[in-house]
Amino acid sequence: MIGVLVSGAGSNLQALADAGLPIVAVASNRRDAPALRRTSAPTAAFELAAYPDREARDTAMAEWLQAQGVALVVLAGYMHLLTPSFLDRFPDAIVNVHPSLLPAFPGAHAVEEQLAAGVAEAGATVHLVDAGVDSGPILAQEPVPVLPGDTPASLHARIKTVEHELLPKVVRELCAR
Ligand code: GRF
Repeated sequence: MIGVLVSGAGSNLQALADAGLPIVAVASNRRDAPALRRTSAPTAAFELAAYPDREARDTAMAEWLQAQGVALVVLAGYMHLLTPSFLDRFPDAIVNVHPSLLPAFPGAHAVEEQLAAGVAEAGATVHLVDAGVDSGPILAQEPVPVLPGDTPASLHARIKTVEHELLPKVVRELCAR
């Protein structure tokens, strides 16, 4: 039973659903995240402003996911760091998809930074989540070519095409554990 955390467009959430994976809940840190409109599963928003601090927000979000029966959490474009109050409730059961060949180019601006660095190959990585920034153990990754004339948008679109295959594949394997 999968819970998905989103903040943005939701194309990876869509890929998980299209792969027929059992998504039972979708949560976001943003009430207005377009991704929330891409699912027929129950949704909830946990905006930081509604809580005294991050720990309280993360506790509420984890408890809601657990109440929906979630055993595996997938971060599909979720743009906040998770605190131990969330991480400790899902040990070794939180995965993230990131648009670079980690450990290179962690953080929120990986696509722009790969272009600025002039790398010939960007990539996509799926990894287990710990308290660091895109730093948990790597489960799978795949290179993506950088082409002449690429913009952040064109490169990110090419990376997402790879993410949409890689993420459901890894999540399916984790479900079969
Ligand atoms: C993806 O590129 C993912 O790697 C990164 O955020 C982006 C989310 O895209 N963490 P989407 O919302 O799934 O379309």
